Amino acid sequence: MVCLGNICRSPLAEGIMLKLIKENNINMRVDSAGTSDYHVDEAPDKRTITNAAKHQIDLKPLRARQFKASDFEKFDKIYVMDKSNMANVLALASNDTHKGKVDLLLNASHPGMNLEVPDPYFGGEQGFEDVFQMVYKACQHIAFA
Ligand code: 4NP
Repeated sequence: MVCLGNICRSPLAEGIMLKLIKENNINMRVDSAGTSDYHVDEAPDKRTITNAAKHQIDLKPLRARQFKASDFEKFDKIYVMDKSNMANVLALASNDTHKGKVDLLLNASHPGMNLEVPDPYFGGEQGFEDVFQMVYKACQHIAFA
């Protein structure tokens, strides 16, 4: 799960997947990263933590890290939140196999529509709940595909 800062959208997606995996005994691993190094080693944004907690999802233990080229080898699928993240990740891909692993997260719930998870960082509280709802739906599709 990849966004820009790894403090709002992608840690949320990681936390949701961790819960779905645990509660349903799914054989899947998940991690998240940001394409930037702006917030490396920081916990998720307080507003993201607070909103996720309303849905019984604990993001407090997560820490931001930067996406790196070796992630292409470690993961079968790399979900990005928006098209800018997509461009940043694809710029680090060294072959077509790597490129083929990258998709927009919302294509999991809305195949082929190329919808983006908007960045809630500079907006109000409702933005965090809207992001939660769309990320949760997409994660359900990934977990139960
Ligand atoms: P995220 O949100 O990519 O969903 O973690 C952002 C967090 C921080 C910044 C941008 C987006 N920032 O510019 O610091």
